[in-house]
Amino acid sequence: MTDLPAPSAQALAHSERLAGLIRREIHDSGGAIPFSRYMELCLYSPGHGYYSAGSQKFGAAGDFVTAPEISPLFGRCLARTCNGVLEQLGHGDILEFGAGTGALAATLLAELQLLGRLPGRYFILERSGELRSRQQETLRRLSPRLLDRVEWLDALPESGFSGVLLANEVLDAMPVERFRWDGNGVERFHVECRGDTFGWCARETHDPEMIAAVRRFDEDPGLHPGYVSELNLQLPPWLQGIATMLDRGLLLLVDYGYPRHEYYHPQHSEGTLMCHYRHRAHGDPFLWPGLQDITAHVDFTAVAEAGAATDLDVLGYTSQAWFLLDCGLDHLLQAAGPTDSASYLRQAREAKTLILPGEMGERFKCIGLGRGIEGTVPGFRGQDFRFRL
Ligand SMILES: C[S@@+](CC[C@H](N)C(=O)[O-])C[C@H]1O[C@@H](n2cnc3c(N)ncnc32)[C@H](O)[C@@H]1O
Repeated sequence: MTDLPAPSAQALAHSERLAGLIRREIHDSGGAIPFSRYMELCLYSPGHGYYSAGSQKFGAAGDFVTAPEISPLFGRCLARTCNGVLEQLGHGDILEFGAGTGALAATLLAELQLLGRLPGRYFILERSGELRSRQQETLRRLSPRLLDRVEWLDALPESGFSGVLLANEVLDAMPVERFRWDGNGVERFHVECRGDTFGWCARETHDPEMIAAVRRFDEDPGLHPGYVSELNLQLPPWLQGIATMLDRGLLLLVDYGYPRHEYYHPQHSEGTLMCHYRHRAHGDPFLWPGLQDITAHVDFTAVAEAGAATDLDVLGYTSQAWFLLDCGLDHLLQAAGPTDSASYLRQAREAKTLILPGEMGERFKCIGLGRGIEGTVPGFRGQDFRFRL
């Protein structure tokens, strides 16, 4: 991986401390741990993981850029979806999962205030203590007057939630299992020590949930022997928790991914695992543990199925481009200019990144699950791609 910029000596020492913890766990587990556990430790090990420790991560000086960091236009559009749902409910709260730097929360609160539709509370559920502090700093700076509405949670409320739940690029950051289909059985990839670094080792699995899922993929869309891919086993319990606490409202998930027939297509026979370091994407999760992001694409059919299994309706599924346009992205842009042409041109550039097919427009999808919501909510009134799920 010679084209990647070398980390500082301090960053490498940090990575080596995490690698030491992982090696110890591998040793204590008899020589190997499931890849999902390795990914969990790399991203979320307290004080050491990529999201738990203090590296930059977001933005030009970090490793990747997300839609709320690209432009406030993204949050202003999502505010129209929240407005529609909160108006229908008459009252309600917002709960954002994995709020990153807090940029989306700050934009949403400001825009909902302009629309006269502030939520009762704006909850944030964030796994990373470091990001929680960063979110507090962002909101103190950008929305000081609305800060008292924001509350950080350690766990989901148990029941009685009405309103909107949001997760932008959270599902792709959930630890996944990696599997190989051998034409008959399923191998689960583990991680073992190889000298100073780590390597793959595949072991036949007897886990009934994993076997049942991979057999389903083999029936449709069909897998050839040797096919390797990923599977998010944390998704169903995560959605179950949300379904249990949701009285009425919308869960909006935005992420990169495909419906199942594209996800497990022969073209993706090496899976979708991807690492991000300083705006370079590559496929080696064993490089510099804790210094790089590790992600997998989202199987949106699995999201819809897990939602249906917990009695949530699939309220909509479309591309990010169609979603933002239905929320009035073009009108927001028109209203921005062109009297102030520098600001207008900047926003036009940002809008293109959000919606052009070669940028985020088609790669990113929006899915809405919910309960007790009538009609179609803003964002899903344009193109309905639910038939693809
Ligand atoms: C790629 S970042 C996206 C951050 C932000 N939503 C954005 O769009 O800029 C992934 C975020 O999800 C958080 N995360 C991952 N799994 C989570 C979970 N189960 N509950 C809450 N947050 C989670 C991470 O800590 C991190 O903040």
